[in-house]
This record gives sequence, structure tokens and C-alpha cells, in this order.
Amino acid sequence: MKTVVITGSARGLGFEMAKNFRAHGFNVVLSDINEQNLANAKVELSKMEGAGEVASVVCNVCDLNQVENLWAQAFAQFGSVDVWINNAGVNQPPKHAWDLTEKEIDFLINVDLKGTINGSNVAMRGMAKQGFGAIYNVEGFGSNDAYQENLVMYGTTKRAVTYFTTALAKEAKIAGHNVIVGKLSPGIMITDFLTSSNGQDGTSELPEKVKKVYNILGDYPDVIAKFLVKKMVKNTKNNAHIQWLTNGKAFCRFMGAGFNKRNFFE
Ligand SMILES: NC(=O)c1ccc[n+]([C@@H]2O[C@H](COP(=O)([O-])OP(=O)(O)OC[C@H]3O[C@@H](n4cnc5c(N)ncnc54)[C@H](O)[C@@H]3O)[C@@H](O)[C@H]2O)c1
Repeated sequence: MKTVVITGSARGLGFEMAKNFRAHGFNVVLSDINEQNLANAKVELSKMEGAGEVASVVCNVCDLNQVENLWAQAFAQFGSVDVWINNAGVNQPPKHAWDLTEKEIDFLINVDLKGTINGSNVAMRGMAKQGFGAIYNVEGFGSNDAYQENLVMYGTTKRAVTYFTTALAKEAKIAGHNVIVGKLSPGIMITDFLTSSNGQDGTSELPEKVKKVYNILGDYPDVIAKFLVKKMVKNTKNNAHIQWLTNGKAFCRFMGAGFNKRNFFE
């Protein structure tokens, strides 16, 4: 039986991916910095039908020791880890780069970039030793060099995540590890993340013009998770880029925008 570990999986995309892996028969290791949400997520996931088991480990991805403990707990319980997803992430407060405090910048870089690096390195070391595995990192706004006012620092971290992940895939190949590395591009998801800055809920109201675009291009995370997990389960290629909102899909959405009656923010 296969095992997946997903960071930041107490809610949002991480939790929806967990549900889909459970439906695919995997053992699922949930993990999050938020203990209460994690406990609730474990109860909810355990109620779902699935051949595998559900485990949970509290883990702050910024802390290498905690990430190593996450690997150790998963490995001890299930004997191997087939898929590891670095999903934990936080949004930035809606400010220009120069108006962010040093604390806010450190926090973003620590969670979104260093957290992904910690998870990737720990998983790579473990998977190289066990002889197989797949690591996926979650991209975000900025990964493709796009620009939006007040999202520059978040975009900087995600651009770096994309570079790091591509380079990691190459290094894994050069090293001869039987480990594949890939990128997940979820597009725009209607989750608490959109209105939260630095991991806090409901701290910012989105501007009307941004809501308009999100109503056209956005989707709920369950729809996106189903797509991403189906692709991951099938994927055997290194350096895969699993993308929900392709340029073609975005073009079609804008073309059909006149008929689009969705309003996620009512
Ligand atoms: N929502 C979007 O539109 C969108 C778009 C593209 C990419 N993403 C990315 O997708 C991923 C998931 O986003 P989401 O929308 O589900 O967000 P979310 O806020 O709903 O969930 C993120 C989870 O990560 C956890 N987390 C935060 N800091 C952590 C830390 N230090 N250690 C461990 N867990 C931590 C949170 O507690 C939360 O449960 C993130 O990497 C985000 O950057 C989001």
C-alpha cells in the first residue's frame, strides 16, 4: 500500500488532496502547524471510505527538526513514503514590497520558500535511501513571472520555488536517485488563503477588480485537487509540471466571461 505525506493539509488544497489520495487507496499522513485544524481534519478524513490508514503529525515546515520528525513518523508507521507534497504556504499582506516589515518578509520567505526547501531536502534524503519516491512542490502566483500589485513578495518566493524545484529534478537525475520531482500549479483557488495574510484568517478584503478576475479564473480546491491527484498517481516522469489553469483554459474562461454567473464572494 502506498503512502503520501502532505504538509499544510489541515484545510484548503492540502486537505482536498488528502481526501483524493485516500480515495485512491493511499495511507495518508496529514500534517500542519495548526493543531486544532489538524485534529479536525484527521477525524473528517478517517470517516471517509479508504483502504489505507490516516495519520497526523503536527509540523511547522520552517523548522527542519520538525520536518525530519514528520518523515521519521511517517516512515516508522508505514515503512516507506511514496509521495511527499510540499503544500504549506501563506499569503502576504496586501502591501507594496517596501511597506512590508522585516518580520512579515522573513515569515513569507520562511514558510513559502524555506519550508519547501526543508521538505524537499528531507524527503529527497529519505527517498534516496529507500530507493524510490516522488516529491511535488506547489507553485503559486509569480511562478511564471506574472506581476500583480501588492503580491510581489509572495510572487518572489513562488518564483524561487519554481526554480528550486526544476533544479532539484535535475540534481536528482544527475545523482542517479530513483526519485522524481515535480511542480503542481493549482491556478486560483477559492480558499481562506485568498483573504488571509501571513496565515491569519479574514484579515483583508479583496479589491473588486481582483474579485472579478477570481470569479472568472478561480475554482474551489476540491475540483483542482481531484485533477492534480489523478495526474500525480499516474505520473512516472521526472520534472513533470502538473498544471490546472493552463493558458488555453484561462483564454476560454475570459472568452466565456459574459456568460459566467459565478460569484464566490457573495
Ligand atoms: N489559494 C490560491 O489561490 C492559491 C493559488 C496558487 C497556489 N496556492 C498555494 O497552494 C498552497 C495551499 O494553499 P491554500 O489555498 O490551500 O491555503 P490555506 O491557507 O487554505 O491552507 C494552507 C495550510 O498551510 C498551513 N500552514 C501555514 N503555515 C504553515 C507552516 N509554517 N507549517 C505547516 N503548515 C503551515 C495552514 O495552517 C493551512 O492549513 C500554498 O502553497 C499556496 O501558496 C494557493
